[in-house]
Amino acid sequence: MSSNDRVIIFDTTLRDGEQSPGASMTRDEKLRIAKQLEKLRVDVIEAGFAIASPGDFESVKSIADTIKESTVCSLSRALDADIDRAGEALKNAASGRIHTFIATSPIHMQYKLQMEPDQVVENAVRAVKRARNLVGDVEFSLEDASRSELDFMCRIIEQVIEAGARTINIPDTVGYAVPHEYGNTIRQLIERIPNSDKAIFSVHCHNDLGLAVANSLAAVNAGARQVECTINGLGERAGNAALEEIVMALRTRKDTFGLETSIDTTQIVPASRLVSSITGFPVQPNKAIVGANAFAHESGIHQDGVLKHRETYEIMTAEDVGWNTNRMVLGKLSGRAAFRARMEELGTVFATDAELNTAFARFKELADKKSEIFDDDLVALVSDARASAGHEKYKLSSLNVTSQTGEVPVANLVVSVDTQEHSAEASGSGPVDAAFKAIEQVAASGANLQLYSVNAITSGTDSQGEVTVRLEKAGRIVNGLGADTDIIIASAKAYLHALNLLDANIQKAHPQV
Ligand code: KIV
Ligand code: ZN
Repeated sequence: MSSNDRVIIFDTTLRDGEQSPGASMTRDEKLRIAKQLEKLRVDVIEAGFAIASPGDFESVKSIADTIKESTVCSLSRALDADIDRAGEALKNAASGRIHTFIATSPIHMQYKLQMEPDQVVENAVRAVKRARNLVGDVEFSLEDASRSELDFMCRIIEQVIEAGARTINIPDTVGYAVPHEYGNTIRQLIERIPNSDKAIFSVHCHNDLGLAVANSLAAVNAGARQVECTINGLGERAGNAALEEIVMALRTRKDTFGLETSIDTTQIVPASRLVSSITGFPVQPNKAIVGANAFAHESGIHQDGVLKHRETYEIMTAEDVGWNTNRMVLGKLSGRAAFRARMEELGTVFATDAELNTAFARFKELADKKSEIFDDDLVALVSDARASAGHEKYKLSSLNVTSQTGEVPVANLVVSVDTQEHSAEASGSGPVDAAFKAIEQVAASGANLQLYSVNAITSGTDSQGEVTVRLEKAGRIVNGLGADTDIIIASAKAYLHALNLLDANIQKAHPQV
């Protein structure tokens, strides 16, 4: 495969994905996702924005220290301090990249940067040179490229390539582009810039008009050889181009694109599940590739056709994208060693025996309630265990909800607050509402409930329910997670987890991008 036949997959779930309100992740969560991305064999992992906060720096650093098979990248504005901080975080990377950017559209230059175009070029060139002194692999992005002038883009790109940038990214920052126009822009840039052969052209599309994947593919058709994307299309506002859709479109329609990626597609569904369970952003059932219905045939005509000859209605198989890797692995009689081994295969390594023992005890509790334990149950179990690890001001001690036809549901609960037990009773329009009201009686957080969602982790009525509760307080947004075979308990745990996150103040502000 020549390098021109290959599309580099640059995953930005941990950076642009995290810029989704409420998708903030801890360092350990990011590391777990990074390990799964490495297993998925993405070429580049954008691990964060090192200067954004000490937490972001630590996340980029720990991913750079750990990941060996993928290039690890940090974002930085075209500012000396940003670039130096990115270089420091990437110091131990087996393969590190600095991704520096500056806005190039008239509207951004005039109002946001308040710079003349010449100053923008000067800053870009200086940033790329400084980054090249720290790492060999430098990417330069023209923020808001889809609303920038072609002549100006040609001028700045020629100079940053001259200064040492090896990847040139043309983002559709505000999701404004349409496929034919965007593809044309990429083609013209490659044709007109004299040294364009010294760099790989990349695209980064937002989904405001629902065109992120279509625009990315149009750009690939026009010569782009790197696509920036995220798992499940997570990202700012309407999100970024979905990795799974880009990869499977290139693979399924190799006849028309004639291109390959290095992705192990059987790791797509596990990656999707992991990102969804960590961020608390559920995947809609009809989402392409990773939605629960993506391979389900309901109509009789379709079922009949598929049974007679699969390809009558299926263009790819569920196995190709990893649906069937969710096999039943463990049961009631499984021992600690089997549990530990399967967890390691799923990307969770227990740092201490105590951590292993706590998780194993939870697994045994679950196995008592549920006869078949699937990989997804194990992933949820770890997320739930991590949700209650570390800083835990509020903890559920007990919950009793009565609910019967014609009666108002009532919740009685005991919550420990900094180890002191408090009880409360509240009624509500449903059992979950009653439980949340009772929690609020104790916590008096004043937070606004922005989202409540329940997902069945596996099929069957004994499935665990995984609940996401999004709370907002004073502009800070957190997603709490809880999993249990009893969805009222899962809901209470998710609410308390969200309160603990608000209390721990783990949300951080991102500098203006
Ligand atoms: O959307 C965008 O322009 C970005 C850049 C920082 C690459 O995320
Ligand atoms: Zn972006």
